[in-house]
Amino acid sequence: MFKDKKVVFSGVQPSGVLTLGNYLGAIKNFSAFSDEYKCYYCVVDEHAITVRQNPAELRRRTYETLALYIACGLDPQKNTLFVQSHVSAHAELGWILDCYTMFGELSRMTQFKDKSQKNADNINAGLFTYPTLMVADILLYQTELVPIGSDQKQHLELTRDVATRFNAIYGDTFVIPDPYIPQTTARIMSLAEPSKKMSKSDENENAVIRILDPKDVIIRKFKRAVTDSGCEVRRADDKEGVSNLMTIYSAFTGKTDEEIEREFAGKGYGDFKLAVGEACADALAPVQAEFARLAADKAYLEDVMLAGAEDAARSAARTMSKVRRKIGFTEIRRK
Ligand code: TYM
Repeated sequence: MFKDKKVVFSGVQPSGVLTLGNYLGAIKNFSAFSDEYKCYYCVVDEHAITVRQNPAELRRRTYETLALYIACGLDPQKNTLFVQSHVSAHAELGWILDCYTMFGELSRMTQFKDKSQKNADNINAGLFTYPTLMVADILLYQTELVPIGSDQKQHLELTRDVATRFNAIYGDTFVIPDPYIPQTTARIMSLAEPSKKMSKSDENENAVIRILDPKDVIIRKFKRAVTDSGCEVRRADDKEGVSNLMTIYSAFTGKTDEEIEREFAGKGYGDFKLAVGEACADALAPVQAEFARLAADKAYLEDVMLAGAEDAARSAARTMSKVRRKIGFTEIRRK
């Protein structure tokens, strides 16, 4: 049915309650592709275990992330929603592509450097080869377009390099994917340290808006957001906090920077922060209501997981068979 459609693939780690960064930088944009593309949206639990996870929490968050995909507007009838560890080809192609990825390339990945600093007591080999698993996720489905926030750009460049290298050795095997990075919301910043990106794993809860935070919590966190000693609502390089809040406000209201500046001219940061908090909480309310309904229906989520895994596994098997043949693995078939 989807034979002629181009493919979109993206993934989110179930390593914490998703943030406003995940929402505005990635998930909110996913449903725009559903009509035109064959879309695979994956809950990447195999990536999550590069950092030590509590097993019960990982399981719960995997369901939760799937429910959030649907609550954010991804119809399972129109998108293939699935869990990475349910399709064994991801790990399999990940291993194969490890053998076509250079140590030096992986050493240059900024996310590896950041994460090894944060997890100094657990710099495991998976943390190092994580980007190759992501390469495999994308290449398995002959993906053309990968919607991501800007922090994943380097991993996409690696994907293109590995695919090009493999194709050069064995002839056309993989489609070379392009990133799709939103123009204004590619990097939502921390509310506590606006020079850092908002991150799921931030220990300071005030730095992060979670998609599932109740309205009063969202408003309180925005009220506490770090700005500057001025009082002018204006986008500027030396006003990182205010600029970040303007990006968020604009994403929820559709207003331009000029309109926002006019709206808050002569008013203080207090009014502005309250307006951002309300716009954000109001926009997330329907997502939260739908999430609550879905999260209570585990059987439905399991049906979605199963159908998604079967569909994804079928496509993945086609690529795997091509790859095996090209690299010289033997294939046995039942007679
Ligand atoms: P993860 O789980 O960290 O984040 C999921 C998506 O959210 C985006 N994002 C942000 N966008 C804007 N501002 C932010 N502060 C912000 N924080 C996160 C991320 O860029 C990402 O698009 N390695 C990936 C998961 C992954 C993947 C893939 C993605 C595994 N395989 C294949 C695409 C294709 C990750 O850790 O995302």
